[in-house]
Amino acid sequence: MASENGSSTKRGQWASHLGFVLAATGSAIGLGNIWKFPYITGDYGGGAFVLLYLVCVILVGLPLMISELIIGRAGQTNPVGAFQKLHKEGSIWQVTGWLGVASGFLILSFYSVIAGWSLAYIFKSIAGFEGTAEAIQSQFGTLVTHPTESIMWHTIFMGLTIAIVIGGIQRGIERWSKILMPALFALLFGLMCYGLFGTNGGKQALAFLFVPDWSKLTAEAALSALGHAFFTLSLGMGAMITYGSYMKRGASIVKDAIIVSLLDTVIALMAGVAIFSMVFHYGLEPGQSVGLIFKTLPVLFADTGPWVSVPFFVLLSFAALTSAISLLEVVVSYFVDQRGWPRVKATLLLGGAIYVVGILSAMVSWTVMFRGKEQGFLDIFDFITTNYMLPIGGFLTCLYIAWVVSDSVRSQEFGSKDKLYKSLVFVLKYITPIALIAVLLHGLELLPFMEY
Ligand code: PFF
Repeated sequence: MASENGSSTKRGQWASHLGFVLAATGSAIGLGNIWKFPYITGDYGGGAFVLLYLVCVILVGLPLMISELIIGRAGQTNPVGAFQKLHKEGSIWQVTGWLGVASGFLILSFYSVIAGWSLAYIFKSIAGFEGTAEAIQSQFGTLVTHPTESIMWHTIFMGLTIAIVIGGIQRGIERWSKILMPALFALLFGLMCYGLFGTNGGKQALAFLFVPDWSKLTAEAALSALGHAFFTLSLGMGAMITYGSYMKRGASIVKDAIIVSLLDTVIALMAGVAIFSMVFHYGLEPGQSVGLIFKTLPVLFADTGPWVSVPFFVLLSFAALTSAISLLEVVVSYFVDQRGWPRVKATLLLGGAIYVVGILSAMVSWTVMFRGKEQGFLDIFDFITTNYMLPIGGFLTCLYIAWVVSDSVRSQEFGSKDKLYKSLVFVLKYITPIALIAVLLHGLELLPFMEY
């Protein structure tokens, strides 16, 4: 297709509905599901957090995903252009699109560094984890503090991401999503079965995840659940606007958003079952925090051998890759659609720029003062995007769809004006924005009932 490389004015489109669903699910399922969800669930004590998270997905995530897909499909262009087209040229709402492009740029810069560690661990798994628990755990410190190794894996990961996005919508993103997503499902299914039936921790893991301990239901947990629901569904930065813009008319946006959110949630829970089964089998505490995947699990993998650890890190890398391509596509689509750059040029230049900024995150010894303490760039970029940029982007998107866009555009893309539609508009008007303001105020440490 001529449009695939940007050499004609016709834009790319998904070849099939399944292709879109797999690509959008691929964007949603990422490090957030396999790495972050299990460790924050562990930190916040399990079941109660999972329940809060499910409520957040339904009340905030799903309505916002529907909103982004509506804007994307109605606008048929990148996030900046979509707000211009739906509102007017020079409209203030295009700031939302700008913010999305900037968030995509910044998130991918550090996301690629963490994904690079995951690639490194595939090879460490093949070599096998041996020695004392301390020795195995210290491998992570060695990897992270050796910039050459960390940067090498970041280079490889960004190279793969760029190679896929250069191929365009059908021959790049869709084709690879159709290969990587089924592989990811199969790997995770295998690992979950291993956790449930191959270890003695399966029952305990299920109880930990699905039996809520109400004493753990704190405001802090609720805000983290909300922030996470947001990140894991790839919302607030125009990824779903961009993917929605390659959709043909006809498919139901509501149905698709439900499928993507459901799959994303199911995968996070499956990863939780797989990981906590092993953690409980070895009699460990679930709250292992950020080190859960790269420090705690490798110690357990020394016992299980590479046939569990290799699939695990391949799964993590695949998940990261399908998310990374959506992050890069948001940035690339802006330069292709708005500036008329050929796709190859936009992907190489922007991918290259993101790679260079990512080096800041790979250099963990480079720290600066941020919010009163010395911190590395990875933590700073993660904090700024998750706590400020994404909630602001989501808040503006929500306001736009709830209060600004014409009812005819909104209901036409939604597909009806029935009760469900009216409920969605109500939630978007009164519930989602309040929840997002709470996340934002929490990030700014300004929530009155919290202790900072
Ligand atoms: N949803 C991805 C994850 O859970 O890892 C992260 C992400 C991808 C966030 C794409 C935002 C985005 F646009």
